Amino acid sequence: MSVRCNQMLWRTNLAVWRAWRSWKLNMHYSTVGASSGPLDRPDEEGSVSTEKPPHTPVMLKEVLHFLDIKPGQVVLDMTFGGGGHTKAILNMVPEATILALDRDPTAISLARQLAKEHPNRVKPLLGRFSELEVLLSDMNIKPSSIDAVLLDAGCSSMQMDQAERGFSLSKDGPLDMRMDGERYPDMPCAADVVNTLDQQALASILTAYGEERHARKIASAIVDTRRVNPITRTQQLASIVAGSFPAAVVYSRRDRLHRRAHVATKTFQALRIFVNDELKELHAGLCAAQAVLRSGGRLCVITFHSLEDRLVKHFLQGKDLSNLDQYHFSPRKQGTRKEKLAGEKNDGSVYWLPLQRKVVTPETDDVKENPRGRSAKLRAVVRQ
Ligand SMILES: C[S@@+](CC[C@H](N)C(=O)[O-])C[C@H]1O[C@@H](n2cnc3c(N)ncnc32)[C@H](O)[C@@H]1O
Repeated sequence: MSVRCNQMLWRTNLAVWRAWRSWKLNMHYSTVGASSGPLDRPDEEGSVSTEKPPHTPVMLKEVLHFLDIKPGQVVLDMTFGGGGHTKAILNMVPEATILALDRDPTAISLARQLAKEHPNRVKPLLGRFSELEVLLSDMNIKPSSIDAVLLDAGCSSMQMDQAERGFSLSKDGPLDMRMDGERYPDMPCAADVVNTLDQQALASILTAYGEERHARKIASAIVDTRRVNPITRTQQLASIVAGSFPAAVVYSRRDRLHRRAHVATKTFQALRIFVNDELKELHAGLCAAQAVLRSGGRLCVITFHSLEDRLVKHFLQGKDLSNLDQYHFSPRKQGTRKEKLAGEKNDGSVYWLPLQRKVVTPETDDVKENPRGRSAKLRAVVRQ
């Protein structure tokens, strides 16, 4: 089948899936009640300790250096997570105020605790990048008024380490992977994806979001298994993927540190990106950062895989990514003319000045101390 035909099928299947997803979301709203909107669960205050950082902040030194926050400035941490970066800023910059956003209610309960420890200096915001504009306007924060923005993409160690969140390949748990499933309990999770989508759509997701070369083989194994039993657990999925390869190659892949990686790593990455709509969210986050930063304000973006980094790089170069469905995340794919056009510069406006010539990666010692940050890439820019 030609690349072009595959792309069309991929889009068709994704369109069906998106329709299904928005149907589920509507169903959720109608059961929760129109006036209540997204379910903002009251946090169980005190359930998360702020004593030990649950997430070691990646490239902290570099972030502090590039953001160059001055006393009294207003900072937006778009990915509060375990609060590692926010806490360091609070401690290092007197009187800086931090707007702490996260889509995960567990992270926001941590931010609320931190806000109590630092009165008037931390403002927790529960929501997604795509909801930021509304959240800020509800707080009367004007566009072009923020001094520094940090976006540390992906999921946190807190999310990865809790088996019941279903992100981890090595710990058995329900196949969930939603960052804000607690907030939107009816949103489809990873188990819904693997048990519902057809083989072609599954293969397309693994190719597009996992850059998985064996996508078709894995999708076929998933479909064969679910005919007998639904796929509900992380380890079950890992074994299905492993079972579609000869035993000798299950740990034969290497990560960037040349450590052995499980063959299902890319499958897990692809499903997580798809379930959380991460690339569209990342684009929404970058647009929001562009709108809220004042001229001369600084932005640091940390990403953990090439699909994200490529999107960030192109966005900061001023390429028009408004039609993300036509944008090729993977460089391996041949773009059609239409698709190439989708990535061309828009009106020539230049919004960003880079603070460094090349993308910044963690130092070897930092990687030894925090191996999870090994694939991190940092881009730092100034808003024009
Ligand atoms: C890598 S962690 C951030 C860790 C944090 N910088 C620290 O030092 O503890 C990424 C966080 O971003 C959140 N996140 C990811 N996508 C998001 C989105 N679209 N909107 C809001 N938060 C998001 C995740 O829930 C997660 O908590």
